[in-house]
Amino acid sequence: MEPLVPDYTSITFPAAPADRPYVIVNMVSSADGRVTVEGTERGLGSARDQRLMRELRVHADVTLNGAGTLRASGTSSRLGDPLLEDLRERRGLPRMPIASVLSRSGDLPLDRLFFTARDFDAIVYLSDAAPPERLRAVEATGRRVALLPAGDEMPAMLRHMRHELSAGLLLVEGGPKINGELFDLDAVDEFFLTLGGVIVNGNVLKPPVERDRPPSIATLTQLELVSAIPNGETNEVYLRYRVRR
Ligand SMILES: NC(=O)c1ccc[n+]([C@@H]2O[C@H](COP(=O)([O-])OP(=O)(O)OC[C@H]3O[C@@H](n4cnc5c(N)ncnc54)[C@H](OP(=O)(O)O)[C@@H]3O)[C@@H](O)[C@H]2O)c1
Repeated sequence: MEPLVPDYTSITFPAAPADRPYVIVNMVSSADGRVTVEGTERGLGSARDQRLMRELRVHADVTLNGAGTLRASGTSSRLGDPLLEDLRERRGLPRMPIASVLSRSGDLPLDRLFFTARDFDAIVYLSDAAPPERLRAVEATGRRVALLPAGDEMPAMLRHMRHELSAGLLLVEGGPKINGELFDLDAVDEFFLTLGGVIVNGNVLKPPVERDRPPSIATLTQLELVSAIPNGETNEVYLRYRVRR
């Protein structure tokens, strides 16, 4: 198969709704629908897949990970290429998006790059149910903390991003639990999925979107396929879906 080279730097997105950013989710999955192996996503996506994630970051005002992903893999909003940062600057954006993480427990790895780096801005979204000593420990890293009302964290976080950070585009980079919660809230606008040319083969491994309850036909999220780009060099397919409403 002839390799096609996808380019996500030039795609466009609609304007954000009033009360939340326009939300896009990006994940890489094996061909058998798993997003982790040996505890992280490493090994599932090629360098091209990682490049595409960074190209999506070109558009983002904020990137988001669940605390589970921060604990397993670490995270940042870096673009890894000054040319991509230049592109953001020409579009009137800061050189890197604001990185964010969402946690209920406040049990966060404070020695990770997310907390120690200073070349990108970052914010910790923390439930007000988190123990006060953990809140103090997170604040001591110098990162901003936004406290969210317990039980309403996700909608409150999205409102905060839109109104306090003026975020028009949020790029969610997993993991499955926060993806599942966002889909349940009908707060996802687009889903980018790299389908990798590997089989993981295991029954305790995660799918890209996950909720602890039985799904139903009545509540299926309907998707419209925007693009599907095969890459014969990496044996991946890059899928872009829009949520149908
Ligand atoms: N293949 C890929 O593209 C990809 C991408 C990303 C991640 N991953 C993998 O996915 C795995 C992690 O996924 P995961 O589903 O276990 O975790 P996750 O979605 O990254 O994070 C879940 C955590 O987010 C916090 N959270 C979720 N909903 C919340 C709410 N309403 N309010 C406050 N906090 C909330 C909680 O943190 P606390 O526990 O701190 O309360 C929860 O445990 C890792 O192995 C990672 O490598 C794969």
